[in-house]
Amino acid sequence: MTTIASVQHLSRFVDQDVRLRGWIYHKSSKGKLHFVQLRDGTGIAQCVLFQKDVPEALFEAVGRAGQESSLELVGRVKADARAPGGYEISVNDGVVHQAVDGYPISPKEHGPDFLLSQRHLWLRSKRPWATLRVRDAVITALRQFFDSRDFLLVDSPVFTPSACEGTSNLFEVEYFERKAYLTQSGQLYAEAAAMAFGNVYCFGPTFRAEKSKTRRHLTEFWMLEPEMAYATLDDVLDLAEDMLCHVVQEVLRRRRPELEILERDTAKLEAIQKPFPRMTYDQAAEILKNHPDSTFRYGDDFGAPDETILSNMHDRPVMITRYPKDVKAFYMKRDPEDPTKALCVDVLAPEGVGEIIGGSQREDDLDALLTRIKEHELPQEFFEWFLDLRRYGTVPHGGFGLGLERTVAWICGLEHVREASPWPRLMYRIEP
Ligand code: 4AD
Ligand code: MG
Repeated sequence: MTTIASVQHLSRFVDQDVRLRGWIYHKSSKGKLHFVQLRDGTGIAQCVLFQKDVPEALFEAVGRAGQESSLELVGRVKADARAPGGYEISVNDGVVHQAVDGYPISPKEHGPDFLLSQRHLWLRSKRPWATLRVRDAVITALRQFFDSRDFLLVDSPVFTPSACEGTSNLFEVEYFERKAYLTQSGQLYAEAAAMAFGNVYCFGPTFRAEKSKTRRHLTEFWMLEPEMAYATLDDVLDLAEDMLCHVVQEVLRRRRPELEILERDTAKLEAIQKPFPRMTYDQAAEILKNHPDSTFRYGDDFGAPDETILSNMHDRPVMITRYPKDVKAFYMKRDPEDPTKALCVDVLAPEGVGEIIGGSQREDDLDALLTRIKEHELPQEFFEWFLDLRRYGTVPHGGFGLGLERTVAWICGLEHVREASPWPRLMYRIEP
């Protein structure tokens, strides 16, 4: 039996016969020749079938097989600098499993709505393929980063009895005789885990009933949330900075061909180095006040256009700290030097994606947190366990949440976060 090879590892098989198993990405025929671009999931390889070198039945079957026909081809691997990917297969045998005619996604341009409806097939096309391979590398790099720093993975639940990030965008579900909510963030549970294990992170799907149709919002997205015991806001900033540098470096190291398919300007990624610019909300407000395109009012949260102005000023992510407490979540610690501000940070990615990270030092004082829960009109009985963390050995602690899809959208240079999810969930779309 000939060795089964994958396209990504063809370099290991130069001048040997291999068997490739995949689908026809593209085919062109000239008389006694078929050129098949065979897609096997790991890459695309150019395969050449000379009529005289292959069984007649195979030559005819390939002749009838359209885009996305499934087939196996056996042939000799030749290094060829002109071939896409650098290798060409001189085919001598093979079999067509299913000849397909009329695959819905042709190489011509399709609108985004059509493609989203065809997501189950669209995944096979080059751009989604490259994007999701970058997503994979981002996830691997994140896990590796936290693992190498001895952060323990402790995942948070999806069903929760109460809100975490405000009540306006909660998904409510029937839960037997009562109501439950799909989690907006795993943070509160990560805080409990940090008191048990020190440094932890959780990584899973989170949900927000966003009634907005922006290019930054999904209703279901993945969030990675580290939480550190005995940590201050500065520790949170340093961790976020190191993490983002590591992730970008790893994507550059492992996913160059994919970034090329996406036509990503990699010089912009090479520029992602420490230190990241850091400024306070007040400093950012001063910049926006003098900017002709801004409608910002002091005291408000930054809108998408404001974030774009601030992030376009820098070639690397910018870290904005100390927002007014009133625009931020109940659990954030107040700045002792200015109690109208929260000890928090938003990290804005360059090139218009906006906020990719939100984090803070947490309120670790029992009475202060009780007051916050009352001010935010949250049901105290559901937060008793969270308050226990402040009753039994409370310590300064903090962490952040990284939005995976926005991070991937930034690294890939995507127009819309929905492309960074294999199965995007949006206000008007949960199919397929
Ligand atoms: O800033 P957020 O709301 O922070 C939290 O949920 C904290 N509890 C995290 C923590 O401190 N552990 O959300 C964190 C990140 C945002 O910066 C953004 O990247 C992403 O989650 N995000 C979304 N991504 C896609 N679609 C949405 N609707 C998102 N909402 C937030
Ligand atoms: Mg935020």
